[in-house]
Amino acid sequence: MNIGVILAGGTGSRMGQTEKPKQFIEVYGKPIVIHTIEAFEAHYEIDKIAIVCLKEWMESLKILLRKYDLSKVEWIVEGGDTRQESTKNAIEYLRNVCKEEDIIVIHDAARPLVSSRIISENIVAAKQFGAVDTVIPSADTIVCSLDASVIEDIPKRKEYFLGQTPQSFKYNIIKKAYESMNENNFKNATDDCKIVKDYGYNISLVIGDKINFKITTSDDLMMLKAMLKLSDMGRGSYVFKID
Ligand code: CTP
Ligand code: MG
Repeated sequence: MNIGVILAGGTGSRMGQTEKPKQFIEVYGKPIVIHTIEAFEAHYEIDKIAIVCLKEWMESLKILLRKYDLSKVEWIVEGGDTRQESTKNAIEYLRNVCKEEDIIVIHDAARPLVSSRIISENIVAAKQFGAVDTVIPSADTIVCSLDASVIEDIPKRKEYFLGQTPQSFKYNIIKKAYESMNENNFKNATDDCKIVKDYGYNISLVIGDKINFKITTSDDLMMLKAMLKLSDMGRGSYVFKID
């Protein structure tokens, strides 16, 4: 079984003053999180979906799931204080339904333009290697500075990538990696792949896409609107198609 886990448990503080968390902001009449869930709902290899959601938004989410007829969504899990805690909650919640070899495809609700190709390649690589990250090459030179004031180093650009999501794993691997964490290294890890890597697994790479950007600030929201406008946004169960 391949399970999509959509992380929608954040408050979107970098978006600034908004009346709702960024994933619930409507773009052309549809909340961002619904755009994201639809990409997974439409994918033929995704069997079921779990959504991690802020507790106070769960009822609104349920109404939206009915409105948009998102029938693959099987579980709604309460979010945690950090992204890592939200992922951990999902992994624990799925304990009784997942088999060891099931694939979980963990994706940010704030990346609504994930393509079908990226999801497919995540599933293939997770089955083969057990752990996968989605990345894109950096077009710009990466500059390392320890104090945001002077340059420490300019590493070789070819060796550096920018991390996106999904990050996908065989269930038993991510479960064991999370169980192995103590409180201290759990707090310092900001990424599921970092946790699995530190647990001792190699992570294979899938090449993502610029279009799979994360909605973080209001500029990103403008960009999303522009992208949707450029494509055929009129359809009910719209999925951005770049493959
Ligand atoms: N997320 C989550 N639980 C948290 C924090 C984040 O499920 N406690 C989710 C967000 O909803 C988002 C994804 O993880 O879909 C990526 O996180 P980010 O872009 O950082 O979202 P926020 O944490 O909500 O935004 P900010 O950091 O600006 O507050
Ligand atoms: Mg955050």
